[in-house]
Amino acid sequence: MIIAVDGPSGAGKSSVCREVAKRLGWSLLDTGAIYRCVALIALENHVDTDPKACAEIAKSLDIRFVASKGSQKVFIGARDVSQAIRTFETTQCVNHVSPMAEVRAELLGIQRRLGHATDSIVEGRDIGSVVFPDAELKVYYTASAQARALRRMKEFEAKGEHFDLKEVVKQIEERDETEFNRANSPLVKCADAVELDTSDLNFEESCQALIRLIQTRQKELA
Ligand code: DC
Repeated sequence: MIIAVDGPSGAGKSSVCREVAKRLGWSLLDTGAIYRCVALIALENHVDTDPKACAEIAKSLDIRFVASKGSQKVFIGARDVSQAIRTFETTQCVNHVSPMAEVRAELLGIQRRLGHATDSIVEGRDIGSVVFPDAELKVYYTASAQARALRRMKEFEAKGEHFDLKEVVKQIEERDETEFNRANSPLVKCADAVELDTSDLNFEESCQALIRLIQTRQKELA
């Protein structure tokens, strides 16, 4: 079974999908991590503004996800890039690498191969619309910009950093604008996706809600 989970940044999609996959004993395919790997290598080779060079990197990407202590490590070849793909620089870079049509085309095959290997929750932006249009269940996982900003603020505060709520809401809305309006594979809510709005749900409630959707679909298909 493939469960496609799409939705905007910062709604907590990744952590909820990771936890649900763990509880169900399924694989989690974090497609954002694949884009981040391409961005990292492109950045290190100073070719991150060249779509052809980035597509070459995508084509030969030797990526592996390795389960580790309830989490997942990401390897390119023998190199553990789990930390390097989450830095501020890589995050900035992936925002201009991920919209490249050439890169997206190259990564389609990798995502399909990894997703089909076993029962998987696949999370990203275009999973239900482009990568797995025949997924058994499509979920559009979202939360209001205000709720996402409040979650962000909590993360910042835990690190002793303080930001203005209005400013964080503004940044989130700007990022949404880019993701919804880019030319290649924009973030869309598929007509056949079930919307899961987690604005008023905590982490555990969000996990339970996703598990319920999956189990309901499993019963329908049995
Ligand atoms: O989910 P994330 O923040 O790790 O995603 C990293 C980047 O990749 C972000 O710019 C969105 C993009 N992305 C994408 O375009 N398509 C996907 N299926 C997954 C992520």
